Amino acid sequence: MPNPYGTGPNRGDVDALAYQEKRGGRIRIHHLQQAKDNGERFAMLTAYEQYTAEVFDQVGIEVLLVGDSASNNVFGNETSLPVTVDELLPLCRSVARAAKRALVVADLPFGSYEVSPEQAVSTGVRFLKEGLAHAVKIEGGSAYAETVQAMTHAGIPVMAHIGFTPQSEHSLGGYRVQGRGDRAQMLIDDAVALAEAGAFCVLMEMVPAVAAAAVDAAVRVPTIGIGAGNATTGQVLVWQDMAGLRAGKMPRFVKQYANLRSVLADAAKAYGEEVRSGEFPSPEYSF
Ligand code: KIV
Repeated sequence: MPNPYGTGPNRGDVDALAYQEKRGGRIRIHHLQQAKDNGERFAMLTAYEQYTAEVFDQVGIEVLLVGDSASNNVFGNETSLPVTVDELLPLCRSVARAAKRALVVADLPFGSYEVSPEQAVSTGVRFLKEGLAHAVKIEGGSAYAETVQAMTHAGIPVMAHIGFTPQSEHSLGGYRVQGRGDRAQMLIDDAVALAEAGAFCVLMEMVPAVAAAAVDAAVRVPTIGIGAGNATTGQVLVWQDMAGLRAGKMPRFVKQYANLRSVLADAAKAYGEEVRSGEFPSPEYSF
């Protein structure tokens, strides 16, 4: 089927993402670009294993992120820093095998790309080859432009992550909004440098909505926000936050669309009670 979309701004007269969904095809990085060009928005969620990936994929979430947030949402660490490439690769494979339509993006974890562009290229290759990811994400501003360029030249699509970058939480002094006031210009400069180096998308975390809007206006590539207001092309949330599985205080930018924790707790409690009382397994569940 011929693709009816042009590549310039507002060239499409149909919804690029809906078209791709109808066609049953894979969302690719150029569809995200077309979405921005056409003024459409898309959704990204984290996913770390097959069933959630399958569900999110089937309901039309356009991008799945195998985030290094697996560190503190799967592996029980306090921060995203300890998770390793070898821990993330199997999660990534599982998500990529389950997702028939979504673009699968993998985070390069802390320590796996900062040393040199060569290190970043070889880790990126592992995520595409062994993790079956379609793209990778790295944290950092214009200092990583050379790295992004090397990865892009090697055929690895790169999503850039600026603003609050959790892997640098110790240098940033904790979870703090970035790019307030005059510092918004630094965000813009970072985004422009990374996009010029070849990043196909710029993700911004915890930045004022007005700064995120200025970044979105300054770059042609699509932007994604998390705690970055409503002017970005896409939005992302950690799925356990979005679905209410994680307990505890949520960041202000998290909207919970369900209370999965109580649904799961009720189911596990009922099961435990029925096992202890002998009600389960009744004859209908026995051979
Ligand atoms: O790892 C992750 O979940 C992320 C999101 C917060 C964007 O990087």
